[in-house]
Amino acid sequence: MRISVRSSCLAAVVVATLCLVIILSKDNLNDVNSSVSQGQLRRTAKQDLIDSVRDAAQNSALAQHVPRPACERNDSMVNVSGFASLPGNIQDFLFYRHCRHFPVLLDVPEKCEGPRGSADVFLLLVIKSSPANYERREVLRKTWARERQHRGKRVRRLFVVGTAGTGYERQRHNKLLRLEHREYGDILQWDFHDSFFNLTLKQLLFMAWMERRCPQARFLLNGDDDIFANTDNMVEYLSDLPDGNDGTKHLYVGHLIQGVGPIRESWSKYYVPVQVHASESYPPYCGGGGFLLSGFTARIVFQMSHSIVLLPIDDVYLGMCLERAGLKPVSHFGVRTAGLPVPSSKVDSYHPCYYREILLVHRFLPHQIYLMWSRIHEPNLKCDGSEVSQV
Ligand SMILES: *[C@@H]1O[C@H](CO)[C@@H](O)[C@H](O)[C@H]1NC(C)=O
Ligand SMILES: *[C@@H]1O[C@H](CO)[C@@H](O)[C@H](O)[C@H]1NC(C)=O
Ligand SMILES: *[C@@H]1O[C@H](CO)[C@@H](O)[C@H](O)[C@H]1NC(C)=O
Ligand SMILES: *[C@@H]1O[C@H](CO)[C@@H](O)[C@H](O)[C@H]1NC(C)=O
Repeated sequence: MRISVRSSCLAAVVVATLCLVIILSKDNLNDVNSSVSQGQLRRTAKQDLIDSVRDAAQNSALAQHVPRPACERNDSMVNVSGFASLPGNIQDFLFYRHCRHFPVLLDVPEKCEGPRGSADVFLLLVIKSSPANYERREVLRKTWARERQHRGKRVRRLFVVGTAGTGYERQRHNKLLRLEHREYGDILQWDFHDSFFNLTLKQLLFMAWMERRCPQARFLLNGDDDIFANTDNMVEYLSDLPDGNDGTKHLYVGHLIQGVGPIRESWSKYYVPVQVHASESYPPYCGGGGFLLSGFTARIVFQMSHSIVLLPIDDVYLGMCLERAGLKPVSHFGVRTAGLPVPSSKVDSYHPCYYREILLVHRFLPHQIYLMWSRIHEPNLKCDGSEVSQV
C-alpha cells in the first residue's frame, strides 16, 4: 500500500515533469519558428533556396537510416508502345528508371571531415570509375587526383562506382574495391549495376551522399577516370573567379554543348528512343568527360532532380536540372573533352607545353597521364613557343 502510494506520487511527478518538458520545448519550437520566419522576411530568394535545399538534405539523411525494400522492376513498361523492339540496355533502363536509392556498399563518411569540416574542402574530385578500372584509379591517385593542398587549398578525391558482373566475378570486383578502400579510403560504392546507362543514377547517388557528408565543399570536378585534369590550374582558376565566387554562387563550366538533340539511331552508344525522351532537343549542357561546378550549383541541381524523370545520358540530364533551376552552363576554353587540336602533324601532340595551360583533356591512357603529369611539373620546362614548333 505504502509502496503503491509512493509509486503513484512518483508517477505524478514524472507525468508533471514530462508535461513541463513538453510545454517548454513547444515554447522553444514556437520561438525558433517565429524567429526563423521573421528572419526569413529579410532574406533573399536565393538564401531561401539554399535553406530549403539544406532542409531537404536533413530529411533525406533521416530517411536514409531507414532500410528500404529493394526497388522493384516496373513491369508495366512492357506495355509502352514499341517496347519489345528496343535494345536490351534501353529496356533495362526503363524497367528501373524510377529507382533512385540503392544500398551503400563502401562509404567514406569522414572524407570531408563532417558537414562542418566540408567547408574547408576547396576542390572535391568526384571521379566516375568502374570496378575493373584499377590501373586508372591507381595512376590518378599519384598524379592529378592526389589529395593535397595546392596554394593552401584542400583537394580531396573520391571514386564513385557501382558493381560489375554476377556471382564470383562480382565478388572479386567487390573484394578489389574493398582492398583499395582499406588502403586509400577513396571509394564510394553502391549496390547497382555499373553501366553506361546507369551513370545518371550514379550521379544522383553521389549528390545524395554529398548533401549528407560533404554539403559545404566549395567546388567539384565531376569527371571520368580517363581524363587528364590539370587540377593545379583548376585550383588557381577557382581561387580567383572574376565574381569572387567562393562556391556559394552558381558556377558550371566545361565543354559547352548546345543545339543538339537525342540520337535516334539504334546502333549508337548514345541512342535515346522517343520512349525515353520524346522531345527532339536537349538543353545546353557541359560534356560529361569533365566539368567544374560550385557546391551551390551541385545542391540546386540535386534539388531539381527530385522532380525530373531520369534520362540515361548523365551530362544531358544535369543540363535539364540546370535549365529547370534557370541556371546556365558556361563554356571554358581550357576544358577539351573532345581532345586538343594541335597545329601541325610535325609537332608532338603530347608536348607538355600544350597541356600546361589547359584545365582538362578527355581520353588519356594511364601511362600518358603519368608521363604528362610529371612533364608539366618539370622545373626546367620552358614554353616560349620554340619547343613546340621544333620537330
Ligand atoms: C511554424 O510556421 C509554419 C508556417 O510559418 C506553420 O505552418 C507551423 O505550424 C509553425 N510551427 C510551429 C511549431 O509553430
Ligand atoms: C498491359 O496492358 C494490358 C492491357 O491494358 C493489361 O491487361 C496488363 O496487365 C498490362 N501489363 C502490365 C505488366 O502492366
Ligand atoms: C511504370 O510504368 C508505367 C508505364 O510507363 C508508368 O505509367 C508508371 O508510372 C511506372 N511506375 C513507376 C513506379 O514508375
Ligand atoms: C541499373 O542498375 C539497376 C540496379 O542494379 C539494374 O537493375 C539495371 O538493369 C541497371 N540499368 C542499366 C541500364 O544497366
